Amino acid sequence: MSTVVLPGSFDPYTLGHLDLTRRAVSLGHHVILAVSHNPSKKGTLDLEARKTAISRTLEAESLAEDTEVRTLPRGLLVDFCREVGAAAVVRGLRSQLDLAYEEPMARMNDHLAGVETVFLLTDSRLAHISSSLVREVHALGGDVADMLPAPSLDALRDAAAVS
Ligand code: PNS
Repeated sequence: MSTVVLPGSFDPYTLGHLDLTRRAVSLGHHVILAVSHNPSKKGTLDLEARKTAISRTLEAESLAEDTEVRTLPRGLLVDFCREVGAAAVVRGLRSQLDLAYEEPMARMNDHLAGVETVFLLTDSRLAHISSSLVREVHALGGDVADMLPAPSLDALRDAAAVS
């Protein structure tokens, strides 16, 4: 079993992220979900709330055994990959826009440390889901329950209740 890193803001962790996680595990990988901490990025959920929602989801989906939830330390993703012994980074592609964003990062990670990026095409039924749109729809009073695992929905509601 090889270790791969699935990095992201996961703000919040969506059904699209869960599908990617499940598919990476089903390919035989041990998946480390590396949750990035970017204080300059305007987010809704703090790091601990995001990590807790992910862990609860993985537990509920019987994926906890094949996964780990870690904070992505400040610094290079490739350094984190080396530290955890990961063979590759896994990222999802919803569209050509995603590819345009991902391609330079994947090439840079290869250049810096020979770290491969494995792209999984997002399930077309989930390709409209992004964390930023989910946050926006939720903030404007829309229903996001069918785009999130229950723990992420709880975290979003809790954050809205205190803000
Ligand atoms: O879900 P996101 O917000 O698109 O995730 C972005 C992430 C965490 C994958 C990206 O910001 C990242 O790789 N950060 C690590 C910094 C780094 O290594 N940069 C230089 C090489 S691209």
